[in-house]
Amino acid sequence: MSKTALITGVTGQDGSYLSEFLLAKGYEVHGIIRRSSVDYRERIAHLEGKPHFHLHYADMSDSMSLVKLVGKVQPDEIYNLAAQSHVQVSFDAPEFTADVDAVGVLRVLEAVRTNHLEKTCRIYQASTSELYGKVEEVPQSETTPFHPYSPYAVAKLYGYWIIKEYREAYNMFCCSGILFNHESERRGETFVTRKITLAAARIAHGKQDCLYLGNLDSLRDWGYAKDYVECMWLILQHEKPEDFVIATGIQHSVREFATLAFRHAGIELRWEGEGIEEVGVVKNLTPSSPQEREPGKGVKIGDIVVRVSPDFYRPTDVVNLLGDPSKAKRELGWNPQKTSFEQLVQLMVEHDMRKVTHEHYNLAEYLEKGIVK
Ligand code: NAP
Ligand code: GDD
Repeated sequence: MSKTALITGVTGQDGSYLSEFLLAKGYEVHGIIRRSSVDYRERIAHLEGKPHFHLHYADMSDSMSLVKLVGKVQPDEIYNLAAQSHVQVSFDAPEFTADVDAVGVLRVLEAVRTNHLEKTCRIYQASTSELYGKVEEVPQSETTPFHPYSPYAVAKLYGYWIIKEYREAYNMFCCSGILFNHESERRGETFVTRKITLAAARIAHGKQDCLYLGNLDSLRDWGYAKDYVECMWLILQHEKPEDFVIATGIQHSVREFATLAFRHAGIELRWEGEGIEEVGVVKNLTPSSPQEREPGKGVKIGDIVVRVSPDFYRPTDVVNLLGDPSKAKRELGWNPQKTSFEQLVQLMVEHDMRKVTHEHYNLAEYLEKGIVK
């Protein structure tokens, strides 16, 4: 008998990879989409119409829609990935973020209880390394104290605790995956990694002059999203409901990410100045770079291609995330370094180099044809 999964946030980066993963395992996959004036869902368009993939309208801020849907689908597993997931945006829209990211989790749990599925339905909650915030120890593990440092993180902290509460109060199989940053070619374009890889590709092709970033010193433990969705599933297959840190155990700065991304785009950078005055200058162009192929087009040695802008500083910023994935390695048998940092940056840049040079680039079509993984 195939299992039935319900994914909230199915249109997002993780939702799209998880859908593919579960479909490949033989699941019946149901996803929640919300009404928007533009009905274009590029990350999952290649899955629409497949016999075991179903989409339903609902919203994390609408309990009735969730209760009805859970009753209709009768899921064996729920993956609660839906969220206003951008930390900086949470400072501008803190109430919406709390409604979706905090109370939304409660609504999912209550939808399961209202439908009397608490004994059979397992729930995965997309928790986050942002819970560690103003970190109290490095590296961070399942026992590190939380110190949330943004409206997003505070909302997610509620999600974490309400999951734990329902596990203890009602004996429900609900767990948090405390995931550190994970990126991919499908990452939203305003998160720092994708912003950098897209800009490096555009700059290399003479389609953008300069990239403006915020805190270059910020440190993150970056993994590949496609590897991380496997862990979400493993957490729900574990014999008992527990929380797990999912991370690579390796840390890099935003500056290091940018240096490597530009290198893959054929531009060697050198950094000059400090703080708000720091700039990334073109030190060299590699022979295979687009500029070398098309003389006169694109950047030249000595050009400033990265600048710092206070617009991208946050009122409070989380600057030292490094996860300890020992428990996931030991108890789930998960390999935290399946895709290395270098491979991750390379695959994102290669994808964006293709994106900026193909006039009619269409992610859905590329996913359908297997050009983008
Ligand atoms: P994402 O690409 O931003 O996707 C977020 C998803 O949530 C989208 O499908 C979005 O739908 C949906 N959503 C937002 N508000 C909703 C609402 N009111 N009702 C229904 N759906 C709603 O995020 P992601 O990177 O895939 O991350 C997935 C989850 O993991 C999030 O909860 C995030 O906070 C958490 N997380 C992510 C990372 C990471 O590094 N990626 C790390 C730790 C935790 P639309 O397409 O309609 O906007
Ligand atoms: N977005 C962005 N844009 N971030 C920048 C920029 C910029 O121009 N310049 C520097 N940064 C710094 C941010 O200040 C932050 O310290 C770091 O780069 C990473 O920012 P994001 O890529 O926006 O990700 P995040 O770490 O804040 O949040 C992501 O990871 C969390 C897990 O730790 C999101 O996916 C969250 O949903 C997730 O929970």
